[in-house]
Amino acid sequence: MIRLDGKVIVVTGAGRGIGRAHAELLAARGAAVVIGDLGVDIDGSGVSSDPAQEVAEAITAAGGCAVACAADIREADGAQALLQAALDLGGRVDGLVNNAGILSHVAFAEMSLAEIQRQFDVHVFGTVRVTQTLWPELVRSGGSVVNTTSSGIFGAPVSMAYSIAKGAVFAFSRALATVGDAEGVRVNLLMPGAETRMQAFAREQFGGAAEPSEEARRRSSPALVAPVVTYLMSDECSLNGEMIYAGHGHVRRFVLASGDGIHIEDLTPELIAENWEQISRLEPLHIVNDLPSFRASLGAPMTESGRVATR
Ligand SMILES: NC(=O)c1ccc[n+]([C@@H]2O[C@H](COP(=O)([O-])OP(=O)(O)OC[C@H]3O[C@@H](n4cnc5c(N)ncnc54)[C@H](O)[C@@H]3O)[C@@H](O)[C@H]2O)c1
Repeated sequence: MIRLDGKVIVVTGAGRGIGRAHAELLAARGAAVVIGDLGVDIDGSGVSSDPAQEVAEAITAAGGCAVACAADIREADGAQALLQAALDLGGRVDGLVNNAGILSHVAFAEMSLAEIQRQFDVHVFGTVRVTQTLWPELVRSGGSVVNTTSSGIFGAPVSMAYSIAKGAVFAFSRALATVGDAEGVRVNLLMPGAETRMQAFAREQFGGAAEPSEEARRRSSPALVAPVVTYLMSDECSLNGEMIYAGHGHVRRFVLASGDGIHIEDLTPELIAENWEQISRLEPLHIVNDLPSFRASLGAPMTESGRVATR
């Protein structure tokens, strides 16, 4: 059985939904867990220490080890508070699950730059700040980071600001995985799908689709996402730089990939038109794990130091 005894793991946004499920399973497998959650509304407004407190109490009552930390990941003080809570709990940090999130639905024509900023403050700057603050401890322990992206990166027109931010989380995580490869920290991405208040909000915005039945809720429970994070946090896992979808009982690896394309030095627009079939062919499929392996696959010169990571 996969166990996490002796590990201290910080989970942001653990007061509700998917983060709560992560925290409960991590604790059930022996980890001491910092329940980071500011208790905000879906748009990031308001503050309450109740959700974090309630989850920490529930885990403790079930025989696990957890402490609440109602920290704001948008603030440097909040990231520092999460670090301190972990050190107070177990004197180390072995894992970080950047899960806290907010959502908005705004049509492209009405989307303001301020809205994008609001999404970036939580998803991007929050994730980067908390990770940077905990990084020295994660390097010390040879730890594991899971960042949370979304299927919105495939193209979600009504939650565009959110999707832009989740795309940035993807790029950040891929870059950090390369840093982690050299420093002994694994960094992976989770793309979850589960019935939470965020899903309920999305349903409402899309025109009030019917409430899911009890059976549908069971099949889309956050508890079906959490096992992936527990695995990614464990010593049994050696994955780095991967993106994994988890939801509704499905677990899938998502990759960036290319085919062979063409290589013609005297390229013209006509040659592109003529060769489009070959350019678009995806067999053989080359999975692009990182920048050095992408450049190596093209035979392109390296312009920055970097080594082809072994995964
Ligand atoms: N539910 C889904 O199907 C789904 C799909 C794709 C991605 N996601 C992502 O999964 C993560 C969890 O989503 P969820 O559905 O459980 O949402 P949720 O709204 O149920 O929970 C999110 C939690 O994050 C906390 N939070 C938000 N801003 C914070 C801040 N500044 N500081 C500290 N805590 C903060 C909230 O208080 C809340 O408890 C999010 O990153 C979300 O974008 C969810």
